[in-house]
Amino acid sequence: MSILPVDLQKKKKRGEKITVLTAYDYSLARMIDASGVDAILVGDSLGMVVLGYDSTVPVTMEDMLHHCKAVRRGVKSAMLVGDMPFLSYHTSRRDAVLNAGRFFKEAGCDAVKLEGGTSMAPVIERIARAGMPVMGHIGLTPQTAGALGGYKVQGKDLDSARRLYEDAKALESAGAFALVLECIPSAVGKLITEALTIPTIGIGAGPSCDGQVLVTHDLIGMFGGFSPHFVKKYVDLAPLIMEAFKNFRAEVEEGAFPGEDFSFTGGEEAAEKIKEILCQNPSSG
Ligand code: KIV
Repeated sequence: MSILPVDLQKKKKRGEKITVLTAYDYSLARMIDASGVDAILVGDSLGMVVLGYDSTVPVTMEDMLHHCKAVRRGVKSAMLVGDMPFLSYHTSRRDAVLNAGRFFKEAGCDAVKLEGGTSMAPVIERIARAGMPVMGHIGLTPQTAGALGGYKVQGKDLDSARRLYEDAKALESAGAFALVLECIPSAVGKLITEALTIPTIGIGAGPSCDGQVLVTHDLIGMFGGFSPHFVKKYVDLAPLIMEAFKNFRAEVEEGAFPGEDFSFTGGEEAAEKIKEILCQNPSSG
């Protein structure tokens, strides 16, 4: 049985921290799930860390569903959250409900996430009213980063901090079960966390949030692109993996791999026999 939205809300009440990581494929999803995190987000960050785009904007519903299905097969306990891609919930509330529904019906997700503040409240309300748990996402919203002036910390002055506070309250009232707060000052993260009954999940929003999320490829040192200030690399896998690839290449080139240890024995007689046949009747080869 997966972790439910209500379980995250109980954790907030008990003052227990919530942990969320992203996953995009079966193998890593299995490991992340086994680590005991509360939720796994198939983030549209996959556009950058897996598909090689320079933003999340080109990611499609088909991309998201393909990766959500792979992750679903690896996840047993954590709540599986699918990230709604750019323009899958902006054109109409009907489109938003239908696209949210695809994450549940086709990919087996337990919840969806979408970006945006007060203007997205009616969309969240419709999806939640259709019985689908929705996570909000405010602060730095990568799908519309251009309109926010780039990948910058949000909510530093009075006006923008107040807007974030109002966005958070509007999304809670609309029925969001949790809220991602991305790239905002810790003091604003604390203010919003204390003002809401639903949990806040921070990414660059300080230690007072009810939980934390990181992009897994950042945490394990597998993404070579820009690394934001809030990322902690718990392990730096890229140099280890590069070393393994170079060792493989060198060993194959010098004939050290595969060697006997990695080969199958037997078949000598059969090979000899075929050679004999070929010698006697060269045209049969
Ligand atoms: O796409 C993503 O991975 C996200 C997280 C950074 C919260 O939205």
